[in-house]
Amino acid sequence: MKHLFSTLLLSIAIISQAQMSDTEIDKKVDSLLSAMTLAEKVGQTNMYNGPWEFTGPVPQDENSQLKADNIKKGYVGGMINVLTAKGTREAQRMAVENSRLGIPLIFGYDVIHGYKTMLPVPIGQASSWDFDGVKKGAQLAARETAASGVHWTFSPMIDVSYDARWGRIMEGAGEDPYLTSVMAKAWIEGYQGDDLSDPLTIAACAKHFAGYAFAEAGRDYNTADVSSQTLYNVILPPFKAAVEAGAATFMNSFNDVSGVPATADDYLQREILKGKWGFEGFMVSDWGSIGEIMTHGVARDSAHAGELAFTAGSDMDMESRIYEFYLADLVGSGTISEDLLDDAVSRILRIKYKLGLFDDPYRYSNESLEKSEVFSAKNKEIAKGIARSSMVLLKNEGALLPLNKTVKSIAVIGQLANSKDVPLGNWRAQAVANSAVSLEEGIRNAVDSKTKVTFAQGYTLTKGRRDFIHELTWVDDQGEGFEEAIEVAKSAEVVVLALGEDCYQTGEGRSQADIGLKGQQLELFLRVMEVNPNVVVVLMNGRPLAIPEVATKAPAILETWFGGSEAGNAIADILFGNYNPSGKLPVSFPHHVGQEPLHYDRKRTGRPVTNEFDNGLVFWSHYTDMTNEALFPFGHGLSYSSFEYDDLNLTPTEDGVMVNVKVSNVSELAGKETVQVYIWDKVASLSQPIKRLVDFKQVSIAAGDSQQITFTLTKEDLGFYTNNYEFVVEDGEFEIMVGTSSRDHIKQSIDLTF
Ligand code: BGC
Repeated sequence: MKHLFSTLLLSIAIISQAQMSDTEIDKKVDSLLSAMTLAEKVGQTNMYNGPWEFTGPVPQDENSQLKADNIKKGYVGGMINVLTAKGTREAQRMAVENSRLGIPLIFGYDVIHGYKTMLPVPIGQASSWDFDGVKKGAQLAARETAASGVHWTFSPMIDVSYDARWGRIMEGAGEDPYLTSVMAKAWIEGYQGDDLSDPLTIAACAKHFAGYAFAEAGRDYNTADVSSQTLYNVILPPFKAAVEAGAATFMNSFNDVSGVPATADDYLQREILKGKWGFEGFMVSDWGSIGEIMTHGVARDSAHAGELAFTAGSDMDMESRIYEFYLADLVGSGTISEDLLDDAVSRILRIKYKLGLFDDPYRYSNESLEKSEVFSAKNKEIAKGIARSSMVLLKNEGALLPLNKTVKSIAVIGQLANSKDVPLGNWRAQAVANSAVSLEEGIRNAVDSKTKVTFAQGYTLTKGRRDFIHELTWVDDQGEGFEEAIEVAKSAEVVVLALGEDCYQTGEGRSQADIGLKGQQLELFLRVMEVNPNVVVVLMNGRPLAIPEVATKAPAILETWFGGSEAGNAIADILFGNYNPSGKLPVSFPHHVGQEPLHYDRKRTGRPVTNEFDNGLVFWSHYTDMTNEALFPFGHGLSYSSFEYDDLNLTPTEDGVMVNVKVSNVSELAGKETVQVYIWDKVASLSQPIKRLVDFKQVSIAAGDSQQITFTLTKEDLGFYTNNYEFVVEDGEFEIMVGTSSRDHIKQSIDLTF
């Protein structure tokens, strides 16, 4: 019997997967499915954690012998955290050479911003607004991952997030649904390429479906309370874009929405994702999220949790071990139909076929490729390019930047400035600790040999163990480093002061109630400014920070996020003018944490901030002690060039409007500008945001030159979803704004009829 099935599999394997059409794959899947027992089918829905690392709470019944036996029996579909060409080959061999049908395992891993060569954290990548660059970064990550035997990344995270307190804001593309949709497409196309069976591409996973970023009060895992308007117009669009971009898999989320844990959400997973949007890939649960349906108080016991999750469309169980123990009985008793099980298994097998795993289960486990590809000099150079374009020049008073390379002396100050670890960011996959180029190193690499570079630590943020799973230990810094820092600052021509966060302040489980500068950073900044006003603040952080004093007093501020392996060199390229900054914020920076959740695309309300209401009385939507506005708005980012906008022209078209604008580079330096288009549908059946991004273009403009830029807005850009999830476009007046940020633009109105 076993021989018969091996022959069947061999004949399946002869045709090259790259040439197989979807119909052919479906046929193969059907024929394999018909040969599978109930236990083997259930096995495909079961995912085990590998021996390398845990990224969530460890299940109590951890039993590696049982796991090994089950893999050999064909009772496991996929594994997480099994790494390296050698490790994956060993695990794959267990499954393929021992099980009755030899179905290969799929290996998944959290490659969030690179495998070993670290790219900037995702919020940084999104700050580039550069589709091709971000795609190239994902291609790099895919190559290193695939060469290490891993087929599947749990990325991109495309949760639109309004709340800087939420630590995972670092992992996404920020606060805007349109920009996040564009980035989702870039990441997915980059990871997956044109052909999933190419051994240098990997399957993507769009996560977390859905509503996870709307955790109340920005506290990770908290309940999410979202309206239909937010769900349909803000949260879902990037996920729809992910389906359109061909995302192979989706991951659901820990939170509940309207009382329904996302993992048990039939409406989101079956009706919308697999129904309305026609998603054909599979849905993996988040780590332990099937079991957590019980903790939410929605399932009585494990069997009930399994029933709810499976019925709702969660196809694969990551680390709850519930499908493993309960699914067969649920199907046996008729609680879950075998058709539903077949659907889930077909989805999983289909992706395995597309990855070419039936063709050659070891195709990704290639030691020589692993050696040449992972952390290669070529990859580091690419990462540097992406890091440069991810950085945002927030302020540059008196053109303090770029610095002259022949500057006589530079004081480099701050614990973050000589850290070779912080720039790697959190969710750093296989990055080696302390393997980044620090800011100090980057500066030393860039300057003239005669320039004196002096470092002083200034402040100390954290001490001891710093890693993915443990809480940070804060230092009770009493300003011990001030004296040295001030001395160094005094005697230097210019100060480069690194401020911000330890990279483990953002990421999963890293929410903060306070998003200012921790420890003695602000005090040190103020003291340094007193002795030397030529201070360039270099920010390293994974979330928007509330830094009003720094924003007011520092002449120059460069946002560098966590820039990855080559961060220091990339920052130095900008500081010394080898690269003209081009990044734009994908999130609003607040003046104060009390403004959170803050986002530019807010509603007008019945009592908006206009002269009409701001008349000395209190009856309008405002804070009595704070502006409503952002400190640095969404879309903001300066260049060493200066751009001007004029001649905005709107021409109605059959299904929308054509927007023309003239953008001029009025400086003496060639530069790149991101031209942004926002709309306001002024009177609609449901209240609309006062502005929302609908398109953007990046243009390089030579010094003194102008370019005529055209955007074609269609119904798709101008409409919105109703509370019944119907897309509508309504006639009436639209204000069209075009400019350099969500705050700084020129505008015109037009009446449109559709
Ligand atoms: C996270 C996911 C991640 C998974 C696997 C979970 O805790 O929420 O984003 O992919 O762990 O590591």
